[in-house]
Amino acid sequence: MSVDVLLGLQWGDEGKGKIVDVLTPKYDIIARFQGGPNAGHTLEFEGIKHVLHTIPSGIFRKEVKNLIGNGVVIDPVVFQKEIEKLAPFNLNLKEALLISKKAHIIIPTHKLLDAASEISKGKNKIGSTLKGIGPTYMDKTGRNGLRVGDIFSPNFKEKYEALVEKHKGMLKHYEGFEYNITELEPAFFEGIELLRSLTCVDSEQYINDAMKSGKKILAEGAQGTMLDIDFGTYPFVTSSNTVTAGTCTGLGIAPTKIGNVIGIFKAYCTRVGSGPFPTELLDEDGEHIRQEGREFGSTTGRPRRCGWVDLPAMKYAIMINGVSELSMMKADVLSSFDKIKVCTHYKINGEVIDYLPFDINDVEIEPIYEELQGWNCDLTKLQTFEESPQALKDYVTYLENALEVPITVVSVGPDRTQTLQNKK
Ligand code: GDP
Ligand code: IMO
Ligand code: MG
Repeated sequence: MSVDVLLGLQWGDEGKGKIVDVLTPKYDIIARFQGGPNAGHTLEFEGIKHVLHTIPSGIFRKEVKNLIGNGVVIDPVVFQKEIEKLAPFNLNLKEALLISKKAHIIIPTHKLLDAASEISKGKNKIGSTLKGIGPTYMDKTGRNGLRVGDIFSPNFKEKYEALVEKHKGMLKHYEGFEYNITELEPAFFEGIELLRSLTCVDSEQYINDAMKSGKKILAEGAQGTMLDIDFGTYPFVTSSNTVTAGTCTGLGIAPTKIGNVIGIFKAYCTRVGSGPFPTELLDEDGEHIRQEGREFGSTTGRPRRCGWVDLPAMKYAIMINGVSELSMMKADVLSSFDKIKVCTHYKINGEVIDYLPFDINDVEIEPIYEELQGWNCDLTKLQTFEESPQALKDYVTYLENALEVPITVVSVGPDRTQTLQNKK
């Protein structure tokens, strides 16, 4: 059995949580393979909105296993809060949630280092969520990190303290940065206790055994392709591989076992944090999208930057990920626009190109747009894609032709039920 993958094609927040929740009944296991509490995945059903950070978005469907893979970084403090929020829903987490012993742990000083680093960057700051993601992945690749499996070792405390000492040395370089580690430690160790009480496994073995026995698996991406450490808009990216290849390293799945790759994007585009965004709208259209789409971060509450769909960036993302089908989200948000724009090319120094060049940080990019007819009607109550307005169908067909990948799902509202299948 192969593993399907669902991941973002833009700068995150495409609606991954919603679609994973919608697709979960088709799967036995939902597995996160990278990222950590920088993610905020929203699910809405039965009038309740849930935001998940570390826990996979299949958690509300009983019978399904949810795996936090080795490629994920876990903050025990955020994790405990997330678990506490799930208490009213009577989920059997000891059964339904599995945590890789190889996942790395975010310790309090990782968050301090993240904050100190951002402050020191001044106007060049990444706009990090300050969840300690960068410093934790740095310790992973620097071979200093602590892993979930370590919490069962009798000398975990010693390992922890050695890492804190190292971090204190690093924090000295940030002049004037004040902190108090002792204040942060009780919540951290409480979270460690909670982790100890849950089911921690050799996840690569677990997932490969599951595949062998015919279980259906969906890998849930976090962030988006344009935030990938290798292929995103570096250095304004996150610190993990958000692309399909990250599924292999973040779960221990062989490349030959990758099945369907579902690429998810908004009918427009957003970005939160710093960095280039060629189609960003700094005018009232951008503000209009932000208000209509409630574009404020699920993790940090920051206003998201808004703009039109960017085809050069999307084509690049489709190429890197081997996307086999697309889900288009938040079509309803554009309902009040008479005209909808799509960026087909970039103009850089007088040259018109349709691909993503090496440098989009330090050059002026003029997006070249094609204008399409808006649908100007409420989509949120549609039951089928067939009954949707012609202008929406035309928008979908236009994008399918340009991107050369079918759009199989069109989302018209945040609720689980507001999801239309585009059957060909
Ligand atoms: P994720 O990080 O990719 O899971 O996305 P987020 O949860 O951060 O952001 C997506 C936001 O859009 C959430 O508030 C969702 O509830 C909401 N959302 C998802 N799909 C739709 C849709 O089709 N229409 C509208 N209006 N909202 C949606
Ligand atoms: P989901 O999974 C949107 C952005 C941050 C910042 C950059 C680096 O909900 O789509 P980091 O905290 O990783 O050091 O931040 O990446 N970022 C996200 N933007 N959605 C996310 O996750 C994000 N996770 C990180 O805003 O620009
Ligand atoms: Mg999000």
